[in-house]
Amino acid sequence: MQNTNSIMDMCFILEKKYNMETKRLYIRYFQENDWKDLLEYLSCKEIYIYEPGDIIDEDKAKEVCKRRAANTDVYAIVLKENNKLIGHISFNQTEPLFANTWEVGFIFNPKYQNCGFCTEALKEIIERAFVEDKVHRIIGHCNPENAASWKVMEKAGMEREGRLRKNIFFKQDSNGKPLWIDTYEYGILNKYET
Ligand SMILES: CC(C)(COP(=O)(O)OP(=O)(O)OC[C@H]1O[C@@H](n2cnc3c(N)ncnc32)[C@H](O)[C@@H]1OP(=O)(O)O)[C@@H](O)C(=O)NCCC(=O)NCCS
Repeated sequence: MQNTNSIMDMCFILEKKYNMETKRLYIRYFQENDWKDLLEYLSCKEIYIYEPGDIIDEDKAKEVCKRRAANTDVYAIVLKENNKLIGHISFNQTEPLFANTWEVGFIFNPKYQNCGFCTEALKEIIERAFVEDKVHRIIGHCNPENAASWKVMEKAGMEREGRLRKNIFFKQDSNGKPLWIDTYEYGILNKYET
């Protein structure tokens, strides 16, 4: 049996503190003054069709930006040509830590969707995580009906690993009964690992 100490020694806790760049995008951490751009898209109803949550107001946008600016779990995706925040990609380590696995999630401003921006940013985040941070595995989840989401993951090299049946709900019916939905699970392994 593997002893607990050796497993604990294998915990991969990253202090992610670097910015990235692609052809069209800056990928950086949040700043408190990002709130206006964040509000622009998190106040759009269509963002929440497959996501939990509801539209936010100015105070909430400021609060979210303040929290994100103090952490490194969400990347701000910024358009180089006008320095505008157009979306975000969360990148969080999953439990157990010794599995060295990270989960991605993403939301982009509808005005800037379907231009390949999320895919461009996600590819870079995955590459840097594998090359520089020696992450073992990256996963993502989405509603099977959310084609934009699973297409992004596939374009970034992730593979569909399964369909979880009615494993989650974000809404309830008028009687309080959960409206269960299925989930696709996607994953990609570090190809540089030997
Ligand atoms: C998912 C999301 C982040 C993708 O961002 P994006 O920058 O538009 O992504 P990309 O442009 O890189 O790629 C989107 C792909 O989905 C396709 N797509 C978009 N809407 C689609 C739809 N309704 N049906 C089928 N395909 C669709 C696009 O055509 C494109 O594929 P293509 O390059 O093969 O043409 C964005 O749609 C979004 O913010 N959605 C709302 C929040 C959300 O659901 N997040 C995911 C939660 S799991």
